[in-house]
Amino acid sequence: MLQARAYQIKPGHTMTCRQLAIAALPLVLTLAGCGAAVKPKEAPLAGAPIGGPFTLINQNGTAVSDAKFAGQYRIVYFGYTSCPDVCPTDLAKIGQSLRELEKSDPAVASKVTPIFISVDPERDTKDAIKEYVANFHPRMVGLTGSPDEIKKVADEYKIYYAKMPPDEHGFVRFDHTRIAYLMGPKGEPIAPISADMTPAMIEDLLKQWVK
Ligand code: NI
Repeated sequence: MLQARAYQIKPGHTMTCRQLAIAALPLVLTLAGCGAAVKPKEAPLAGAPIGGPFTLINQNGTAVSDAKFAGQYRIVYFGYTSCPDVCPTDLAKIGQSLRELEKSDPAVASKVTPIFISVDPERDTKDAIKEYVANFHPRMVGLTGSPDEIKKVADEYKIYYAKMPPDEHGFVRFDHTRIAYLMGPKGEPIAPISADMTPAMIEDLLKQWVK
């Protein structure tokens, strides 16, 4: 049974919870009425010049533009399939966060499309990308394109990348910005997903912003 707790307002004057709530109600209504009530938190990347139109080739060899993802939230990550460490680590975390979200809130998870964009189009053929993205999430889209198209989309997303000289084994690495972006259903930037985030943190971020 709930018991009304008495609050001491000032000596000799006590109010119950219910009385307090009623007393505070006009104030709450006034604040809401004049727009001073708590505003929804603004997205960390709201208004940032990140993202833009593109036309690339997906892992099935089909040309896709950014318009294909209209209405979907997207997690956009740039990397390359030969990357020995960083890319697989980051993409695995993104995939895991989505699988966890599929269990905890499937409706929200279904609104999110993970997208991998190659910065190494010479080696990353559609077949290489198809095999690669399947490791991380069944709905992950892999995109490649001509070097010019890749440069354009990387610039739009403020992603730096550079081909390194071959190492002593003749292996060529790319240096590249290590970040993923959560983008909204109109392609607008919402929040960065940084490399130090755990899958649980990414899942929480998605729950916070995907509506
Ligand atoms: Ni990488």
